[in-house]
Amino acid sequence: MGCSLKENWPSEPVATIAVTGGTGFIGRALIGCLLDGGLRVRALVRPASLHFRFEAPGLSWVCGELSSLEALERLVDGASAVVHCAGAVRGVSPVDFAAANVVGVERLVQAARSSKECRRFLLISSLAAGAPDLSPYAASKRQGEEILRSAGGSLHWTILRPPAVYGPGDRELLPMLRWMRRGMIFVPGGGSGRFSLVFITDLTRAIQVWIRSGEGNAASFEIHDGKPGGYCWEEVRTIVANLYRRPVRRIDIPRTVLHAAALLNAAAARVTGYRPMLTPGKVRELCHTDWTCGNGRFSNAFGWGPEVDLREGLLRTLG
Ligand SMILES: NC(=O)c1ccc[n+]([C@@H]2O[C@H](COP(=O)([O-])OP(=O)(O)OC[C@H]3O[C@@H](n4cnc5c(N)ncnc54)[C@H](OP(=O)(O)O)[C@@H]3O)[C@@H](O)[C@H]2O)c1
Repeated sequence: MGCSLKENWPSEPVATIAVTGGTGFIGRALIGCLLDGGLRVRALVRPASLHFRFEAPGLSWVCGELSSLEALERLVDGASAVVHCAGAVRGVSPVDFAAANVVGVERLVQAARSSKECRRFLLISSLAAGAPDLSPYAASKRQGEEILRSAGGSLHWTILRPPAVYGPGDRELLPMLRWMRRGMIFVPGGGSGRFSLVFITDLTRAIQVWIRSGEGNAASFEIHDGKPGGYCWEEVRTIVANLYRRPVRRIDIPRTVLHAAALLNAAAARVTGYRPMLTPGKVRELCHTDWTCGNGRFSNAFGWGPEVDLREGLLRTLG
């Protein structure tokens, strides 16, 4: 099932939703979901990423940086809600994450508060915000949440903390999923952790349901794919092996090896300015033992439920 809730929308007037991060994995899928649901979308694009824009009926773009209040005011002008989906996910030091995850929240809240119509604000945070000491990324997501909590003022705001998100269009988890499909599962740091997952269309539908609800809640929510207690690596290995009817070999990557690779990456990043994914902070995230979350509060508040389990999600992602 797709994510369209079009039949439930009033036919006129068509609401406009402002979206940041529309050139990324989640933002792009979100825009498709909102347009399918009969909404108009106005999305922010950075000047350097103009070539990642795409065209669709009902979609318009505002070109600008998250640091530009003027651009953000144009983005939210006349919109009934804004979804802050832009986020820096790669980097070594706090400064790599601050522009999107901290300053971006601050400026966008300021723009929404100064607009007449845009009273609702949804922050796409992360489960990582619950463990801010693990990494600069996690700390920046927590800081973004705190800014919204303290500066949200009269806005009807909500924070959504997804676990790892996967699906077509994802760049970060896809290589690992492809290896699984080929019969190898790489397990980081001893593999004693448990983690929740959510398929992209379940996340975008959750956001659409939030928009449709008209609620603000001033609260933070988690969602997952319906597997209580999440997965351990052995469960994932068994699901993949059964799904593709082939043996899947487990390859453990010791924490020391990951850490050494991360230190090399961080050193190379300092020289080249490149923002790597595997950093010492990411290793601490990968080796964290509990990335599970619950669905109950969001389901109760918004009547949402997951539709895509891991088996189905892998088929839709990898074929
Ligand atoms: N993917 C996951 O598993 C996951 C899980 C939990 C939470 N999240 C959160 O979901 C959000 C989106 O993640 P994603 O997976 O879609 O990441 P992504 O594919 O890397 O996309 C990131 C988006 O944010 C934009 N962005 C980054 N830095 C920016 C800046 N300084 N100014 C303006 N725009 C900026 C990017 O724009 P450009 O195209 O211009 O770079 C892109 O549109 C993030 O906030 C992330 O923390 C993701």
